[in-house]
Amino acid sequence: MQTLTGKNILLGISGGIAAYKCAELTRRLMERGAEVHIVMTEAAKEFITPLTMQAISGHPVAESLLDPRAEASMSHIELAKWADMVLLAPATADLIARVAAGMGNDLVSTAVLATDAPVVVAPAMNQQMYQNIATQENIATLSRRGMHIWGPDAGEQACGDVGPGRMLQPMDLVERCEAFFQPEATSDLLKGKSLLLTAGPTREALDPVRYITNHSSGKMGYALAQTAAEMGANVTLVSGPVAIEAPAGVSIINVDTAQQMHQEVMSRTTDADIFIGCAAVADYRPEMVSEQKMKKADDSDTLTITMVKNPDIIASVSALKTDRPFTVGFAAETQNVEQYALSKLERKNLDMICANDVSVGGQGFNSDDNALTLYWRDGKKNLPLDSKLALSREILVAVSERLETRD
Ligand code: C5P
Repeated sequence: MQTLTGKNILLGISGGIAAYKCAELTRRLMERGAEVHIVMTEAAKEFITPLTMQAISGHPVAESLLDPRAEASMSHIELAKWADMVLLAPATADLIARVAAGMGNDLVSTAVLATDAPVVVAPAMNQQMYQNIATQENIATLSRRGMHIWGPDAGEQACGDVGPGRMLQPMDLVERCEAFFQPEATSDLLKGKSLLLTAGPTREALDPVRYITNHSSGKMGYALAQTAAEMGANVTLVSGPVAIEAPAGVSIINVDTAQQMHQEVMSRTTDADIFIGCAAVADYRPEMVSEQKMKKADDSDTLTITMVKNPDIIASVSALKTDRPFTVGFAAETQNVEQYALSKLERKNLDMICANDVSVGGQGFNSDDNALTLYWRDGKKNLPLDSKLALSREILVAVSERLETRD
């Protein structure tokens, strides 16, 4: 499909091993109708030649900032103006640092400075370099300036390390470009559907001033609610206490405890086509809630609190015999993510589970970004590190596809 017809993409390649994938990336973008011009850093030319990229893109590739031949065909400033998107792929730690510092010391960094088009950054580097605080701060700076950070993916690296830092696969980048330029393609994907979801933590009182809770920020659930509303769904969000605003067009029901959340959810399942349990519900609550503030005991250095199990909200929804919504759960794990997620899918009788590894820094709880793998009974989809808003889009697209096959 010519989904990128009329789109001008300026591909900025820097010197990482993933640069060899730019030949395929360019070809796939062009297949979909995009016009692609290339700028490369000096180091990138060690990994893939300008001649190869020129042959594939059909346009001369400038050799340097002051290359008279290339400047005569389209100057680097004209190129930056021509672009509808500047895509930095692979973006090495060095390129990211130079862009964060606002430098214009080669063609690629100059193109970023000189464009008013959206800039997309696809990081690619060794996992240690990626996790280095300097790189993380530079990426956060780019993100704060409105640049789009796509990836990286995690897994085995060319250097033998395992961890986050691999560039997204060319097809992943192409799909994201398509989604980027065509948000309207999903604007009515959930039209006529009702989504009920939970988000945030619960608070389980010990006495009038103390409670037990967890670190859930509610960001993932709120992003899902906002995106589903944008996709045309009728959204009801049952939320624990969080510090974020309710998204526009979403009905919100505020609760504190797991029992309240359970009650509010169960009274609304009949109308729901989809239920997503995104809340970090406390598994246990104190058996007794003291009516008065508990006092420190002088005669003991320990305090024993008996906890009782809370209802499992999502398991109650998925056990419904009539009007059972398509039920999606979340699993935050610190080890054996796939194994635990699949057993949770089975045990809680879910239609889909979104699993994330919360042991990896910069994703999951409280972060704006996350990386997830979606599992359903006979399939899975890997969603590499992205903003929670972008991920919520992909989750809801996957849900709507599964919903169709079920209907
Ligand atoms: O068993 P675990 O708490 O890891 O399962 C996580 C999933 O179950 C999430 O979707 C969460 O919202 C849901 N859950 C629930 N009620 C509980 C505990 C978890 O709905 N009491």
